[in-house]
Amino acid sequence: MNTLEVAVIGAGYVGLSTAAALAACGHRVWVVERDPVRLEMLRSGRVPIQEPHLKAALFAPSSTVCFTADLRIAVCVSSIVVIAVGTPPTPSHGANLSQLYAVLEGIAPLLDEQPRVVVVKSTVPVGTHAQASQELRRLAPIASFALVSNPEFLRQGRAVRDAVFPDRIVVGATQPWAFQAMKTLYGALLEGQISLTEALELERPVSLPAWLEVSPRSAELAKYAANAFLAMKISFVNEIANVCEETGADIDEVISVLGSDARIGADFLRAGLGYGGSCFPKDTRALSQIAAKSGYDFQLLRAVIEVNAAQRYRALDTLERRLNGVRGKTVTVLGLTFKPDTDDLRESLGIDLALELAARGAFVRTHDPVAAQAARELLPAGIAVSGNLEAMLTDADACVLVTEWREYLTADWARLGARMRHALVLDGRNALEPTVMFAAGFTYLGIGRADTRLTRQPQD
Ligand code: UDX
Repeated sequence: MNTLEVAVIGAGYVGLSTAAALAACGHRVWVVERDPVRLEMLRSGRVPIQEPHLKAALFAPSSTVCFTADLRIAVCVSSIVVIAVGTPPTPSHGANLSQLYAVLEGIAPLLDEQPRVVVVKSTVPVGTHAQASQELRRLAPIASFALVSNPEFLRQGRAVRDAVFPDRIVVGATQPWAFQAMKTLYGALLEGQISLTEALELERPVSLPAWLEVSPRSAELAKYAANAFLAMKISFVNEIANVCEETGADIDEVISVLGSDARIGADFLRAGLGYGGSCFPKDTRALSQIAAKSGYDFQLLRAVIEVNAAQRYRALDTLERRLNGVRGKTVTVLGLTFKPDTDDLRESLGIDLALELAARGAFVRTHDPVAAQAARELLPAGIAVSGNLEAMLTDADACVLVTEWREYLTADWARLGARMRHALVLDGRNALEPTVMFAAGFTYLGIGRADTRLTRQPQD
């Protein structure tokens, strides 16, 4: 195996998961992090984000990952420099590239005649590769480097698994030697020879990753296109769920039919309150803007975004009807992170719904198993936040399940329901079993589930 020295710049979830996967490929990895608190945590063996397997992967006895604030040390010894900094949304829904350009400025004086591949893993607008290449050439006129676009497709909560078992590795480059260097970098992943997977007991996929050599612009657009397509599937299934509610069909049954068509695929067809998180909302808006700037009106994507924004309010309207108005009622929001197994509160539907319920005059309580403390900073004082489920449900008029945490799926609902003023649940992820909830004495409202309509009919 060809062992390389690799610098990974940025210790967010992409940078750390990538570092763990590259170390598992047998490379020596230097993670560069400028935030002193984050760096100190990592140096003392702690992981600053909630991500399954990450700690075990980074700090395995055989791990070859080390952490530094010193860009110079990391870049000088490395033949590949991976940039994994954030590209947060700008107020106008573009991507803020200031961190990326700051890194290019930082590494430019360190590049010399030794050939290096500089890899952009961050999600960036189409054309960024061309601009960034020019800028790096301007800053380092005689250095030998190739800039490569290598988007990631990691899911939070599964980032380590996705990093060691990607479906595909996409490399956008212009020089043949850069493609070759990237193939060496990912050699072990391409051959499925990752030692770490046994230690972490990660389930192996049936096939090896696809290797896709494309132009940098195609790589950049493909990343946005993949997220937009998945977001479209979610908005589509949410609209079908809404049609189910109007027509008496059942979304679970419809999904079972849709998903069994290999051309459609069963993944990303879970109906609910819509998508949140750090990627789909930001990337769909950014792609819409990229298209608009190029003179193209991406109508379908605009609709995907609009449907997602409306879906949560449609569910709240159902709750309003059921409670004869939420004003003066106590409603508990269950789950604040944008999905389970992460502590990420970016574009959190739970926070958004809590604020909307409060604006409509409800007494709002919120619960989250991991992010209650962090959420307190984001919610006004009048909204209760706690990690104690029973306390948050006691005497509540209704609860809304927003994030399908395991704690909710395995809760003793008969006991919890008995503590509520009204045992009413709006299951915003269709994650609970309606029959179990009926047996526990609940009135159950799902999203497009026919059982929901049956329970609704007597009072509607
Ligand atoms: C996503 C992409 O999946 C990943 O490839 C990309 O690199 C980053 O963005 P992530 O945001 O971590 O990953 O989460 P994901 O599991 O994709 O879920 C995103 C949102 O969609 C969540 O709010 C989730 O609840 C919602 N979702 C997902 C649905 O509502 N229905 C589904 O069927 C799937």
